[in-house]
Amino acid sequence: MSQDIKGTLPDSIVLPRHVAIVMDGNGRWAKRQGKPRHAGHRAGAENLRNIVKYCGDIGIEVLTVFAFSSENWRRPKTEVALLMQLFMDALKQESARLRDNNVRLRIIGDRSAFSARLQRQMGETEAITAACTGMLLQVAANYGGRWDVAQAVRRLVGRVKSGELEPSSIDEAAIAAELTFADRPDPDLFIRTGGEQRLSNFILWQSAYSELFFSDAYWPDFDEAALNVALRHFAGRQRRFGMTGEQVVTQVEGETSC
Ligand code: IPE
Ligand code: IPE
Ligand code: MG
Repeated sequence: MSQDIKGTLPDSIVLPRHVAIVMDGNGRWAKRQGKPRHAGHRAGAENLRNIVKYCGDIGIEVLTVFAFSSENWRRPKTEVALLMQLFMDALKQESARLRDNNVRLRIIGDRSAFSARLQRQMGETEAITAACTGMLLQVAANYGGRWDVAQAVRRLVGRVKSGELEPSSIDEAAIAAELTFADRPDPDLFIRTGGEQRLSNFILWQSAYSELFFSDAYWPDFDEAALNVALRHFAGRQRRFGMTGEQVVTQVEGETSC
């Protein structure tokens, strides 16, 4: 099915290299159907499987999804426990599929708060997919944008203390180099499903120049066709990075003429 939908994207479309998604709306999706919240989280996990496959197929380099924020611990204990179980099950069940689809998994966030069993499983699934050369799937778990900046600062201070780094050489590049996925380009396209228009402490530093796209669809309903709409919007935007529109046009013309 995804092949057909992919056919609706023009061949020449400019795709983002890195897509980030706040997968929001599972609870409301379930409520609308008269189901318990956990049914929404299950449906959300299934949807993620389809979107991962599709993004890999169309050539997205990095997909970063927000699965559990550093603030989501505030939810009822039963919901948190269920999300942990779902995480465990998904990691176990999806390892082989990810590997077969050539998708490499990386978990980003502070994993020390998770159970030893879950941390072990995270490591195992990452190891199973470590040699995959296709898309990188980054799952943000117990992740917060502020946490990311704080851990980067902590590492920089450590380097200053050891004499490896001068305080005067701490600039934007030095901070960026210590962030959790410093080895990857910043997200080009930042999508949030579920109708809310906020960042909720997702990748704050790295989304400084991301194009934002908000969808009213609840995450379990955000299918390949819905993603195509976001990709088309992205392709239609002019990214100026502080320059004028005319400068950007001249730059692009220069690049294509030689
Ligand atoms: C997102 O869906 C999933 C997680 C935060 C784990 P929600 O559970 O936030 O769904 P809504 O926003 O209540 O509908
Ligand atoms: C953001 O959604 C976190 C994830 C999708 C994992 P939330 O549902 O937690 O965000 P708020 O609380 O509405 O801002
Ligand atoms: Mg929510």
